Amino acid sequence: MSASPQEFDAVVVGAGAAGLFCAGVAGQLGLRVLLLDHAPKVAEKVRISGGGRCNFTNRDLDPRAPHKHFVGANPNFCRSALSRYTAGDFIALVQRHGIPFHEKHKGQLFGDRSSDDFIQMLLAECGAGGVTHWQPCGVQAVRWDGRAYELDTARGLVRAPRLVVATGGLSIPQIGASDFGYRLAQQFGLQLAPTRPALVPLTFEGEAWAPYAQLAGLALPVRIATGEKKAAAAFDEDLLFTHRGLSGPAVLQISSYWQPGTPIRVDLLPGTDVGQVLAQAKLRSRRLVANELAALLPERLADAWVQGQPALQRPVNEASDKALAALAQSVARWELLPTGTEGYRKAEVTAGGVDTRELSSQTMESRQPGLYFIGEVVDVTGWLGGYNFQWAWASGWACAQAMAAAP
Ligand code: FDA
Repeated sequence: MSASPQEFDAVVVGAGAAGLFCAGVAGQLGLRVLLLDHAPKVAEKVRISGGGRCNFTNRDLDPRAPHKHFVGANPNFCRSALSRYTAGDFIALVQRHGIPFHEKHKGQLFGDRSSDDFIQMLLAECGAGGVTHWQPCGVQAVRWDGRAYELDTARGLVRAPRLVVATGGLSIPQIGASDFGYRLAQQFGLQLAPTRPALVPLTFEGEAWAPYAQLAGLALPVRIATGEKKAAAAFDEDLLFTHRGLSGPAVLQISSYWQPGTPIRVDLLPGTDVGQVLAQAKLRSRRLVANELAALLPERLADAWVQGQPALQRPVNEASDKALAALAQSVARWELLPTGTEGYRKAEVTAGGVDTRELSSQTMESRQPGLYFIGEVVDVTGWLGGYNFQWAWASGWACAQAMAAAP
């Protein structure tokens, strides 16, 4: 004889950013909520986020123009949720909990102390909502009987008319990421947008990369771009050379737009007319070209740029105009073809996911009644800089409100 199920108004699977927040809000709106997560530790991605300080939102987010900071088949899908629960709303919550924070740059807000402040805040909100929290607790199977969802969990049979999937994306599998959300969507016949690592370092292989491999550890501000015309994207951020390729905020940002097989373009000296600077140097200087360049760029980088080019291994006044112009061009428009990315192991997020056409942008409910998807599992990917957390909070809030209002 099977044990009778434990009944709840809603079950939230995934105690990460979106799931914790949604569970707390739904509980405080009067729902009996079960929150469960298969990982031993709660909200590990919040813990490691923002270098351990959690870049929890971004003041520059414009909910009326989500396409500016979000990538996906339809960035406008997030307009409703982002407008109804704003960065200002989350900031107010953080202030109510007395968590000190500061703005770093470009609207990015970080905790002053540690990400743990935010995890404790989310747990306290769940506590205030009387949320039942089981962790670690995996889900073996989900069934829908036309009225409610029945879940086989590691702690027994559970039943609820509403099921919220907040299991995130595929990145950093070593701390609990799984494809549960995508599999569940497919079980109920919902479409997925293809997934890929995003906010991820790019890799370069072969001989063409050999001269740059020695630059590992070097960082500098650049302008980076990819794509053409309408599909073009560009960022002014820091670039970091790594042993296997390029990283740093500039590359993480552009990776969300980069299409395999296409080049990226880097201006190593944005805002400087390198051609003009070198032409003037030629008139008044006898220093080596590499030394002139080193006045503008880090020395190691300047050396690498003239390496293997006899036309530039000489005093600048002896270099030909053509060679200097080519050098200026290579600095202002360094075009390179990534061979790949560091993959989900290093990606901050997963692009793609549950197709937004399957979901209501007001409620996050899918075509399958009572089945909701929130946070990163949805085909909504934010820029680096707190945008992904704001999506987690806003989608979780919209879902909680809708569930509480549902008959
Ligand atoms: P999240 O990944 O937070 O939570 C999913 C939860 O579901 C996990 O707890 C997981 O264990 C659980 N789960 C998965 N499969 C399950 C299953 N089968 N059964 C039960 N539970 C399951 N964003 C930002 O805005 N600012 C920042 O500073 C950073 N920094 C950052 C650093 C690093 C290193 C990474 C990897 C990512 C970031 N991000 C970020 C991105 C941000 O962490 C991410 O977008 C959100 O955590 C997504 O929230 P979710 O709740 O959707 O997923």
